[in-house]
Amino acid sequence: MLSRKITSDSHGQDSSYFLGWEAYEKNSYHEVENPSGIIQMGLAENQLSFDLLESWLAENPEAIGLKRTSGESLFKDLALFQDYHGLSAFKNELVEFMSKIRGNKVKFDANKLVLTAGATSANETLMFCLADPGDAFLLPIPYYPGFDRDLKWRTGVEIVPIKCSSSNGFRITSCALEEAYLQAQDQGLKVKGVLVTNPSNPLGTTLTPDEIDLLIDFAIEKEAHIVSDEIYSGTVFDSPSFVSIAEAIKDRNLESSDVFSRVHIVYSLSKDLGVPGFRVGMIYSNDEQVVSAATKMSSFGLVSSQTQYMFSQLFADKKFTAKYMKENLKRLRKRKEIIVSGLKSAGIKCLKSNACLFVWVDMRNLLSSNSFDAEMELWKRIVYEVGLNVSPGSSCHCSEPGWFRMCFANMSEETLHVALQRLKAFAETLIKSKQQQQFGLSFSRTRSLTRWVFQLASDHDHRETDR
Ligand SMILES: Cc1ncc(COP(=O)(O)O)c(C=O)c1O
Repeated sequence: MLSRKITSDSHGQDSSYFLGWEAYEKNSYHEVENPSGIIQMGLAENQLSFDLLESWLAENPEAIGLKRTSGESLFKDLALFQDYHGLSAFKNELVEFMSKIRGNKVKFDANKLVLTAGATSANETLMFCLADPGDAFLLPIPYYPGFDRDLKWRTGVEIVPIKCSSSNGFRITSCALEEAYLQAQDQGLKVKGVLVTNPSNPLGTTLTPDEIDLLIDFAIEKEAHIVSDEIYSGTVFDSPSFVSIAEAIKDRNLESSDVFSRVHIVYSLSKDLGVPGFRVGMIYSNDEQVVSAATKMSSFGLVSSQTQYMFSQLFADKKFTAKYMKENLKRLRKRKEIIVSGLKSAGIKCLKSNACLFVWVDMRNLLSSNSFDAEMELWKRIVYEVGLNVSPGSSCHCSEPGWFRMCFANMSEETLHVALQRLKAFAETLIKSKQQQQFGLSFSRTRSLTRWVFQLASDHDHRETDR
């Protein structure tokens, strides 16, 4: 009776990424009311700088009071506004903000910007514009678990993995790119492009200039699109600095070449400003037809005019945005240092990172075997015994078992310390019992070896006497 779309599970909502959230919902941690509850470390939210945003709002009440600074009401204008091109004041501020994040090395044109209800909608809209059902996009693995829903579910587009491995810090190589391309061809899929997140969710790293060059060369050679999801571009708190695809294209003087119109950027305020609830996302495309079609499609997920107005006022306050970005990055850097050193003291390493709201944690030493079953077994123990909802690498389609994504900016510092203490106690017990098992094993192996040597010796003795 119902459509195939809704009765199939191709939305990916059944992955452990979302199942962990359900466990958390049923038994959420609270320092007083539920101190043994589950701590949410699977949600890439930035709650570290709300005080800055709230104090700006308190000082600028007209921004949410829907008034001009002169006090004149804007209620009627905004209540009636429904032009899907968006408020030009807001779009002009947004492109300036995007340039600022990129050190003003590139300029953006507000006419090439399409507003969407978050990056979720931006990514899906781009798929509708660039690919037909059954076409493929190549994505480096591990990737953000939401992409199965955002890129594939309603569009019918297929994702083909570019296999990245821990041996080189999960970097994209030309071999892996070529292999993915060939794999798509073997599956009879037409490759329409490559989609990357830069900085990467879940790795927390920025793409190197070499990796970006590789992507551009690939897009030129195969006449493919590049979608660069730069949702974390303002959340880079350590070196190396962030290089946007826009900057790389400019540096290579490709602005008048064919590939220029095949480069599309996705952005949103969900991470850098920590406001996913406001649903402000965007597509920046160099292809006029894509901009025009995506603008029409944005009717299905517009950003409310009230929200646009509020952020146009906020971005116009350049002094505030500069202060916010600086302070926010400082707080994030500190948080990341806390989680990395806490994990280290628990004997757990993570991938060296410089961005985002999470770290990519290597718990291969805690697995009972090198398998995804063992990863699931460990993940369940971490969720239900330790009480931490982390995201297993398999939910990000990682090709190696034992990696987990852990978020650090969606909780208080005290809660993060509780989480780290819990994990440390668990890891120490687990490592000890593994060592004991190994010791027991090697002890019993030594014992049986000794027995065998004794046996041989006594056989030899017997033989000697037999002779
Ligand atoms: C890489 C990436 N793209 C898109 C999204 C969706 O963001 P939004 O809340 O703007 O829809 C996320 C959210 O976690 C993300 O990490």
